[in-house]
Amino acid sequence: MSKKEKIFRTTKEVLKTAKRRKSSSTRWLQRQINDPYVRQAQAEGKRSRAAYKIIQIDERYKIFNLGDSVLDLGAAPGSWTEVALERAGGFTLAVDILDMDSIKKAVILKADLQEEESVELIKKLSVDKFDIVLSDMAASTTGHKSTDHIRTQALAELAALYAVDFLKKGGTFCAKVFQGGTHGDLLLDLKKNFKTIKHYKPDASRKGSPETYVIAKGFQE
Ligand SMILES: C[S@@+](CC[C@H](N)C(=O)[O-])C[C@H]1O[C@@H](n2cnc3c(N)ncnc32)[C@H](O)[C@@H]1O
Repeated sequence: MSKKEKIFRTTKEVLKTAKRRKSSSTRWLQRQINDPYVRQAQAEGKRSRAAYKIIQIDERYKIFNLGDSVLDLGAAPGSWTEVALERAGGFTLAVDILDMDSIKKAVILKADLQEEESVELIKKLSVDKFDIVLSDMAASTTGHKSTDHIRTQALAELAALYAVDFLKKGGTFCAKVFQGGTHGDLLLDLKKNFKTIKHYKPDASRKGSPETYVIAKGFQE
């Protein structure tokens, strides 16, 4: 292939991806505009539409009790943390690898939960173990189904390790998992450590999204 042909081919490829990018961002924009939860979140001053997922999970499974302490993993921009404070209101620690705007009454920690030192940082900041461990952690999607599946599964497994480390006896763990629910070692571990395990996809979780949630109650130390 001549140099000219090579350049021509590369340019064509770049244009093709730009076109794909454009149509996927247009699709995203259209979805945002037509999404009732986006409108509701804006009207009610929520940080993100994700707030309604945890609200709907709580309405179905009653995870928050007044005074409960909450460890929120993958918390940015903070809508779950705000819901936790409204519905439970105990000591609340929100952790994310990204910066997060402050939330009244929440302690915010910027840390990569995949790093072991994060465990120590959380220990230092917490007064006691927690009544609830939440995880809405998500890796940025690649569009490659099995890669996205593996990464989401890995984050759910990581969250479960934090739950085992940080939950009080009788505590609740609620985490984003891949559709099809928890399986394999993660499900076995949860079964070993919790009295009840349910899977639930709240209405606010987009139909086309492969996410669902596991709600594990009654942590047994
Ligand atoms: C779907 S968002 C969470 C939305 C949040 N529940 C809310 O309602 O505002 C997922 C979050 O997981 C975080 N995350 C992913 N991997 C992480 C990691 N290794 N350590 C800490 N946070 C992580 C991302 O930075 C992102 O903010």
